[in-house]
Amino acid sequence: MNPPNFASGFFHPAHDRRNFIKRAGLSAMLFAVPGAFAEQLLLTPKQTEGPFYPDHLPLDTDNDLIIINDSLTPAVGEITHLSGRILDGRGDPLRNVLVEIWQADNNGVYLHTRDTHAKREANFQGFGRFMTGSSGEYYFRTIKPVLYPGRTRHIHFAIKMKGREKWTTQCYVKGEPWNEKDGVLKGIKDPKARKSVIIDFAPLKNSHAGELAAKFDILLGFTPEA
Ligand SMILES: [Fe+2]
Repeated sequence: MNPPNFASGFFHPAHDRRNFIKRAGLSAMLFAVPGAFAEQLLLTPKQTEGPFYPDHLPLDTDNDLIIINDSLTPAVGEITHLSGRILDGRGDPLRNVLVEIWQADNNGVYLHTRDTHAKREANFQGFGRFMTGSSGEYYFRTIKPVLYPGRTRHIHFAIKMKGREKWTTQCYVKGEPWNEKDGVLKGIKDPKARKSVIIDFAPLKNSHAGELAAKFDILLGFTPEA
């Protein structure tokens, strides 16, 4: 039997099928490679931990920073319901991620023995933790961050997961004029990445007490170890 004559324009079905399989194999591989599409989603920029990660933990480390244990006196400040999701670079939720936040109290003072520039507000927990479930969501009740010398309003986040170093970032309050002058925030050079950490602290619907709601999703370029 003569070999097919390609020069004459003969269409060889086996040859075409082989090319199709090659193409299909390539796209299947792209789907299988973790992070292959990570560039398509904007990852949350990592930012410094800063000097005031608590050097001692509060008596209570739950996700309600307004009430320490079963105290009857709530913290002073603008109560804020802070929530969001911890996602991987493909936008899939990450479970079993320990989310920690810490921030200064309404007087601008951290839960840290070296922060002595003003009097600490005794009823503010200053630090809280939340472990994500399958939805990747977290929730904290806290206060809207205040200004303290040298920084714009911000809340610190630490992300802890199995087999990974602690990863830290910060979120900021949209509309705060001091954002323009803040060295840490300006340290994020990519404008889109910088914008992604500045969030709305908006009035909570149907709240008579003037409470606020804020949403901060964190997209990580890595996943926990299995
Ligand atoms: Fe800070």
